[in-house]
Amino acid sequence: MGEPKPLLQIRNLKMHFPVYRGVFIRREVSRVRAVDGLSFDIRKGETLGLVGESGCGKSTTGRAIIQLYRPTDGEVLFDGKDLCDLDDGELHPLRRDLQMIFQDPYASLNPRMTVGDIIAEPLRVHKLAKGKKRRERVQQLMDIVGLDPRFIRRYPHEFSGGQRQRIGIARALACEPRFIVCDEPISALDVSIQAQIMNLMEDLQREFDLTFLFIAHDLAAVRHISDRIAVMYLGRLAELADGESIYTNPLHPYTEALMSAVPIPDPEIERDRTQIVLEGDVPSPMSPPSGCVFHTRCPYAWDRCKREIPEFKEAEPGHHVACHLLDEPERRRALGMAGRDGAASTEDEAVEVSSKEQSAEDPTDESAPPESEAEEVASGEDAPPESESNHETAAEAEK
Ligand SMILES: Nc1ncnc2c1ncn2[C@@H]1O[C@H](COP(=O)(O)OP(=O)(O)O)[C@@H](O)[C@H]1O
Ligand code: SF4
Ligand SMILES: [Mg+2]
Repeated sequence: MGEPKPLLQIRNLKMHFPVYRGVFIRREVSRVRAVDGLSFDIRKGETLGLVGESGCGKSTTGRAIIQLYRPTDGEVLFDGKDLCDLDDGELHPLRRDLQMIFQDPYASLNPRMTVGDIIAEPLRVHKLAKGKKRRERVQQLMDIVGLDPRFIRRYPHEFSGGQRQRIGIARALACEPRFIVCDEPISALDVSIQAQIMNLMEDLQREFDLTFLFIAHDLAAVRHISDRIAVMYLGRLAELADGESIYTNPLHPYTEALMSAVPIPDPEIERDRTQIVLEGDVPSPMSPPSGCVFHTRCPYAWDRCKREIPEFKEAEPGHHVACHLLDEPERRRALGMAGRDGAASTEDEAVEVSSKEQSAEDPTDESAPPESEAEEVASGEDAPPESESNHETAAEAEK
């Protein structure tokens, strides 16, 4: 059985937002490196979970892939075409295939439009159906996502959070897309309805042969839905593997820390396990740390980590990791790390690792600029605020 074909091939994707200063003469003084060189494939029919702390660049990645933001650099190959190379006119027909479901169903639906108009908007923009046919299609979509088609004339505020997310899903499905970025679609919902929405999305994926990039801020949220999981930190990928490997054999220290925070249903194991608490905050993407961007918080960092950027490479078949420890099995063993060459006896001659002290000595070069220097962060030309995203999608497509 060969690997499923990639639907999307992302190569060295970068999304930097310029930061300007000056009232009369505006000049670019810095950049927010929200996404800084991602390379991975999204396979046809899979759900790829994308996980990482808030602010690490997950939403920006999703938006840059479907060209809601036009990337600063890199390639996004879809059907053999590099989406980054296409102008708006060339991109327009492809936007049907590439949709997004947003985190906040309250902010992403235009409150002045009826549900019918919201779901019909992409059909209108792509000239897919008119008049009675369009209305029938909207009602069919409402039925598919579990909304009563008789409510077609109601406004978003008349629905609950879960129902609003269903409206967003119906809207995303309207043009029969092939790929959907699901940007934390359940994190703003009550726990009681999260499972219903997850089940709906799984059913839809099967029924309509969809491929998902499913974004979440913790590993527990993507556990059931993902075939593979990518772990992101400060604009870069730390690890990417099938779900099972991420859970049982995390090879990157950041994944290991995230995993240690995932509750285990067995009370005995849960009681005995140790949680790895990461110290400090995520550094600013305006001045990311040198070398490995995780070195300021990594419990295993040593001097090489501050100097060299670890390559994101295949450590085991299908398991990609960016960490220097992979080149140093001795060190891994001494640390008692699980995974390849790890989990070995700690009796092996210990490699001296004094990461903490080293980090402490290190006058870190990555601290965020002081607040007094607060700078105006420009949204890229194609960068709408989150709340307008849905309307913008259509508006942009309409151009
Ligand atoms: N339009 C924008 N203009 C400037 N900076 C942005 C913009 N969108 C996101 N950022 C910055 O990029 C970084 C990543 O943001 P985001 O992709 O929203 O992270 P996540 O979804 O992982 O929480 C953050 O530092 C954020 O402030
Ligand atoms: S390269 Fe070094 S700092 Fe980065 S994750 Fe690996 S051990 Fe930690
Ligand atoms: Mg986000």
